[in-house]
Amino acid sequence: MKFFIDTANLSEIREAHEMGVLDGVTTNPSLMAKEGITGAENIRNHYKAICDIVENNVSAEVIATDFEGMMKEGRELAKIDDKIVVKVPMIKEGVKALKAFNAEGIRTNCTLVFNAGQAILAAKAGANYVSPFLGRLDDVSTDGVALIEQIVNIYDNYNFSTEVLAASIRHVMHLIQCAEVGADVATCPLAVITGLLKHPLTDIGLEKFLSDYHKGNK
Ligand code: G3P
Repeated sequence: MKFFIDTANLSEIREAHEMGVLDGVTTNPSLMAKEGITGAENIRNHYKAICDIVENNVSAEVIATDFEGMMKEGRELAKIDDKIVVKVPMIKEGVKALKAFNAEGIRTNCTLVFNAGQAILAAKAGANYVSPFLGRLDDVSTDGVALIEQIVNIYDNYNFSTEVLAASIRHVMHLIQCAEVGADVATCPLAVITGLLKHPLTDIGLEKFLSDYHKGNK
């Protein structure tokens, strides 16, 4: 399972990268705005700064919603760095753009996916990644992890090469459940990645080991 971090915050990206477990970064316009990054030029520079930290897989989202606009923007984003994956919304024009980017060898991540039908379309169009937002489904009393499992099963049935990128992960149990149902990638905030470290018996055990060592080595 690949781990992506879902943030545009450079210090959080560096921290996850330094742990040695980071496989990529996802961003979106809301995450960029949260970091105060506005304006096309600043946003491009920020994507480049992210690419300079990680080895691969930096999702950069198009703002246009028409086919020509998405293609123009996506080509420009892809030129920033080979690590860029162009993020395209699950709308009709987006499906056309996924297909066209695929033909041009530009990698894509289809975002804002909330059901299996949308995931089938994304795979048929040749998306490299599909991003179902499981936390936002849980928010509206719908089982987000069940959707991840359903998409994994459908893609397995037909050997679709599109990778299931579980997004909108809010806590460690989401991440673990995604691993159980076979998501290819989990993108989550830094707190979820570091949250995996936590167990009180680890802390208690380490404290005891160290105090016994120091008693015997006075
Ligand atoms: O990767 C999608 C993510 O940024 C959305 O997360 O918590 O806003 O639903 P959230």
